Amino acid sequence: MKTLDPPARFEDSTWALMKEGYLFMPRRHAGLEAPIFRTRLMLRDVVCLAGPEASELFYSGDTVTRRGAMPKTSLRLLQDKHSVQQLDGPAHRRRKAMFMRLLVQDPTRIADLVSRFREAWLRHLSAPEQGDEVVLETFCETVLAETALSWAGLPANADAVGRDAPVLGAMVRNAGRFGPGTAVALARRANMERRLRGQIRAVRSGARKPPEKSPVVALCRYRDEEDKPLPASVVAVELLNILRPIVAIGRYIVFAALMLHQKPAWRARFADGSREGLDRFAEEVRRVAPFFPFIGGILTREAECYGYRLKKGQWVLIDLYGTCHDERWFAEPSMFRPERDLSWQKDVHRFIPQGGGNAASAHRCPGEQATVALIGEAARLMTHEMSFDVPEQNLDVPLDRVPTGPESGFVLKNIRRP
Ligand code: HEM
Repeated sequence: MKTLDPPARFEDSTWALMKEGYLFMPRRHAGLEAPIFRTRLMLRDVVCLAGPEASELFYSGDTVTRRGAMPKTSLRLLQDKHSVQQLDGPAHRRRKAMFMRLLVQDPTRIADLVSRFREAWLRHLSAPEQGDEVVLETFCETVLAETALSWAGLPANADAVGRDAPVLGAMVRNAGRFGPGTAVALARRANMERRLRGQIRAVRSGARKPPEKSPVVALCRYRDEEDKPLPASVVAVELLNILRPIVAIGRYIVFAALMLHQKPAWRARFADGSREGLDRFAEEVRRVAPFFPFIGGILTREAECYGYRLKKGQWVLIDLYGTCHDERWFAEPSMFRPERDLSWQKDVHRFIPQGGGNAASAHRCPGEQATVALIGEAARLMTHEMSFDVPEQNLDVPLDRVPTGPESGFVLKNIRRP
């Protein structure tokens, strides 16, 4: 088996990563026989990987733990300590099974999520204060925050949405950055966790009675492998792990709008309200849109990848964006082609925008079905339930910013309802 030389004494690629963003790993992997190299980031020895073999390493068995693998601020703004992502082995599988029940196994729950989304979208669109111009990124943040709160079984009136939508949006916006914005986002998250703990106590005491099937009830009643309920602080963290990513789907919806704008044939195809092709369209949006650049992990034992020996304790990164954009696995990867017919249910180690492998046993995202359903519904709403102009604006997508999106947030003008 081959080994990778340790990085040179003064080598550190942190600055290059910050400058190159999404392209940092793909640029280096492109010139190599196999997508694997070793360097230092934040002064720490790291092996950077991509592709199906890396996905198998990351998403099969318990060879890679997420504990200790993410910068503290990103961890606090995203999954957080004591969340399902920080668990391993049987404890992980048990808690993950609850997420699978909520998000994968029961199609009526996804249908309910989509119908709340549709209703909120149309109501906000027709609200008198809306005017005829919308910045799609902000509009989605509000609509999706309302959808997420009400679906989760939490208060979703205008006050709650107005207060929580920007907090949830800021968690994602600031997760890849360091600076004053990050500190503010962390403080606002702590406040929201406090409010959620109050809701959780009210549900547990019977003072609030959300619908039986709602996620807040499932989380409040969940019992771990020692038959103990989760502390309210952990229920709040897991509630945020449902609310925050639902709001984050707005970023994909903005890319869906951009694709519909750039590919009028797809716009025309959905204009009659047909649902045929919506899933394929949404899946290709997930492949091309830059969102999660990579995920980090630590090897719990010695392992092998692309014929190289990796030592126990090694910090490893898997390039999710790069894998979806590498011509080794996707012909002409820069072309937007829903005909590729991708699906979160197939090619589990190649098409990995939200992680790979089997979601029930690995750390793969349990929210892919919800994500595809909401992107597809948004595409249908934007083509069939409304028409609009796309005024002159800056639609550049800077790849040195994580997360990214069109600079303008995608402005719609002269919105008309049929
Ligand atoms: C905007 C769309 C989304 C993106 C880009 C995304 C991305 C990801 C990624 C990359 C992971 C894998 C982390 C790893 O390997 O450690 C993940 C895990 C996770 N996601 Fe998502 N996600 C999205 C939507 C959702 C939704 C809608 C939900 C729930 C409502 C959700 C809940 C979770 C949870 C709970 C985990 C942790 C799973 C585990 O550790 O076993 N995500 N997500």
